[in-house]
Amino acid sequence: MKGGGNKKCLAYVAIFIVFQIIVITIFALTVLKIKGPKVRFQTVTASNFNSGSPSSPSFSADLVTKFAVKNTNFGHFKYPNSTVSILYDGQVIGSTDVPSQKAKARSTRRTDITISISSDKLTGTTNLTSAINAGVVNLTSESTLKGKVEIMKIIKKNKSGKMSCTMSLNLSTKAVENLMCK
Ligand SMILES: *[C@@H]1O[C@H](CO)[C@@H](O)[C@H](O)[C@H]1NC(C)=O
Ligand SMILES: *[C@@H]1O[C@H](CO)[C@@H](O)[C@H](O)[C@H]1NC(C)=O
Ligand SMILES: *[C@@H]1O[C@H](CO)[C@@H](O)[C@H](O)[C@H]1NC(C)=O
Ligand SMILES: *[C@@H]1O[C@H](CO)[C@@H](O)[C@H](O)[C@H]1NC(C)=O
Ligand SMILES: *[C@@H]1O[C@H](CO)[C@@H](O)[C@H](O)[C@H]1NC(C)=O
Repeated sequence: MKGGGNKKCLAYVAIFIVFQIIVITIFALTVLKIKGPKVRFQTVTASNFNSGSPSSPSFSADLVTKFAVKNTNFGHFKYPNSTVSILYDGQVIGSTDVPSQKAKARSTRRTDITISISSDKLTGTTNLTSAINAGVVNLTSESTLKGKVEIMKIIKKNKSGKMSCTMSLNLSTKAVENLMCK
């Protein structure tokens, strides 16, 4: 009888150990799997939009954006003061500071950011005339947030999120179209 009880006890211990291994594995694959945030513009609209003629090509606008940092980790993502830039033909035509923030665990931090852009900032050669003729100016945006993920104040890991979006300014409607972020 005693031997039988021992066997039963051993079986419970074995089941308990297997259970623990499963729990630890799930924990390691979810909570401890630390990823960088997804950084994107959720919306972009243009105000104070002006554009010149094909013979005297230029454009300027204030891009009113919702800058979103999506943190999928089970701990917050804190990022310092960073920069977001708008480029035309690979050249920066406007940039603004992104203030230092904290995106809570498994949530998206949204910040309203306005970026003034102007073709006056172009320094290299571009064919603005053809863009004005086509009635559309294609823009890209860039930003890198070098931050830190912190889980339960114990696990800390440097992680960064990179933004890369494309959009078009429609010169006739003065609107931003086809916003797409990677
Ligand atoms: C943000 O960074 C800029 C330069 O990149 C600096 O001038 C400014 O003081 C910083 N602001 C804060 C709150 O750290
Ligand atoms: C710019 O594009 C226009 C057509 O839209 C063309 O006529 C002109 O030659 C181009 N200029 C340069 C410098 O490529
Ligand atoms: C600008 O918007 C108008 C109206 O929505 C549209 O008809 C036109 O095709 C757009 N232009 C470009 C270059 O996408
Ligand atoms: C601008 O982007 C649109 C797609 O959004 C593309 O069809 C078009 O060719 C691009 N124009 C230029 C001048 O790159
Ligand atoms: C994390 O980044 C901070 C500054 O942002 C730096 O001081 C620290 O050395 C980095 N830690 C690691 C492990 O790379």
